[in-house]
Amino acid sequence: MKEYMFALGKNWILSIAELVAYLENRAMRVRVMDHSKHVVVVRVDQEMDDEAVAEMQSSLGGCFKTAEVIASYDCRLFARAYPVRGSFSKRERTEVLAAPWADHVWKNIAGKRVNFGISTYPVGENDSIDIVRLTRNLSEAVKQKLLDAGAKRASYYLYEEPDRRNPNRPNTALWPQTIAKHNLLHPPNAEVLVGITDSRIYIGRTLSVYDSVLQQYRDEARPYVSAEISTSPKMCRTLLNLAGVRPGCTVLDPFCGTGTLLMEAALLGMRCIGVEIDGDAARGARSNLKWLGAEMEEVLDFEIIKGDARQLPEIIHDRVDAIATEPHLGPVYVEPPTREQVQQTIRELTELYNEFLKVAPLVLGDSGRIAMTLPVINSEDGQSHRIDITKLLRDTELMVYPLLPKDVLRPVLKKPKALALKPERQTLPERKRGQVVQREVIVLGRG
Ligand SMILES: C[S@@+](CC[C@H](N)C(=O)[O-])C[C@H]1O[C@@H](n2cnc3c(N)ncnc32)[C@H](O)[C@@H]1O
Repeated sequence: MKEYMFALGKNWILSIAELVAYLENRAMRVRVMDHSKHVVVVRVDQEMDDEAVAEMQSSLGGCFKTAEVIASYDCRLFARAYPVRGSFSKRERTEVLAAPWADHVWKNIAGKRVNFGISTYPVGENDSIDIVRLTRNLSEAVKQKLLDAGAKRASYYLYEEPDRRNPNRPNTALWPQTIAKHNLLHPPNAEVLVGITDSRIYIGRTLSVYDSVLQQYRDEARPYVSAEISTSPKMCRTLLNLAGVRPGCTVLDPFCGTGTLLMEAALLGMRCIGVEIDGDAARGARSNLKWLGAEMEEVLDFEIIKGDARQLPEIIHDRVDAIATEPHLGPVYVEPPTREQVQQTIRELTELYNEFLKVAPLVLGDSGRIAMTLPVINSEDGQSHRIDITKLLRDTELMVYPLLPKDVLRPVLKKPKALALKPERQTLPERKRGQVVQREVIVLGRG
C-alpha cells in the first residue's frame, strides 16, 4: 500500500475522476482517502517506480503535481499553530516547525548545496490556517534544519504572486515551471507539498510535475490552430483517460476538428483515427499530426477521414478500442442567447449526438468506452440548459458509466457540502468562468 498526493486542476472533481480511471485502467486498486478542492490523497495497492510516476504525470490532464505522502497530521495542530485569526499556540507552532518529516526527504546532505521549495495548498473552503505565514516559517525552519545537518548552503523559493484563479488569495505554491527551472526534483533539491484538507494536513515529497512549457509550445507552434473550435489539451487528456485508453490502443475522435485530442493520444503512444465533416479542419488536423510526428522524429500511426460521425460504420472498417471526443457544441455565442434559441440548439445537438451514438457501438470494441463532452448552455435569463441523458441514449445500446465509482471513495469520510464527492455521478462539469457554453463530461459503454 502506498499513498500519493496530487495537486488538482481547477475542475477538481473531474480531475479526481480522471485520476481514479487512470489508476484503475492499470489494474490498481484505488481508494480516495481524502481531498480538498486543491489536492487529493489516494491509496493504491502497488508502489509505482519513477518511470511509472513520470508516465502517469505526463498522461493526466487534470493533475499537475504528483507527490508521495511522507507524513500526516490532524489539522487542528496546524490551525492552533497558524490560526487565520486570534492568537497562536507557541507550543504547537514549535511542534509544526520541528518538521521531523524533513529527515525522510533529505539524507546525507553534509557539504551539499540544497535548493528547495515548500508549496502549501489550502482547503479552498472555510480555511482556518494562515498559509502564507505557515509556508514562510516552515521554509525558514527547514532551511535551518538543513544547515544544522551540515548542508553547505540551503536556499528556498517562495512564490507569492496572487493565485490566478482567485486574485484575493495569495498563492503559496510554486508553479511547475519554477520547479523545472530550479531543478527542484533532483536530490538533494526537493519540493515539499503541504496539502490541507478540512480534517488533515498531508506532507508529500514531489515526484513529478506537469510540463506546461512543452504543452504550450505544442499548442502554439502547430500549423493549424482554430481558437473557436479547439479543445484544451488538458481536457483531451482527461477524456482519453476516462475512455480507458493506454499506449498501444487505437482511439477514434469522430468530431476531431483540428486534431488536438489525437495529438495528445499520439504523444501517449496511441494509434489515432479522426473523422471530421469540415474539409479545412480535416486538412488542418492532418497537418498538425504530421507536424507532431516531425517534432517527435517518429512516424505517427494516424488517419484523418473527411466524413460524418453519424455514418461511422461506412467510414471505419476495423473496431477501435475507445472513442474520446468533444463533439460540435453548437454556435459560438458572444452574448447569452434567448431561452428559445438555446432550446432549439439543444434539440439539434441531442439529435446529432443520438445519431452518432446509435452507430458508435458498431465500430467500438466490446469493452470499449466513449468519453465525450456535452454542452451546458446559459440563456440570457440565467438558466442553464443541458442535454437530457435519456433522449441522448434513446435507441442506442449504451449506458452511462458512473464517474467516481462508490467503492473507490472512503465511506467513513464525511465532508462539508461544498467538498462532498457524490459517488456514481452521471456527468461531471468542466466550468470556465464567464463562458456562455460550459461543458460536462460523460462516459458511456455497453455496460
Ligand atoms: C468542438 S469541435 C472539435 C474540436 C477538436 N477537439 C479540436 O481540438 O480541434 C467539433 C468539430 O466537429 C465537427 N463536426 C460537426 N458535425 C460533425 C459531424 N456530423 N461529423 C463529424 N464532424 C462534425 C465540426 O466541424 C468541428 O470541427
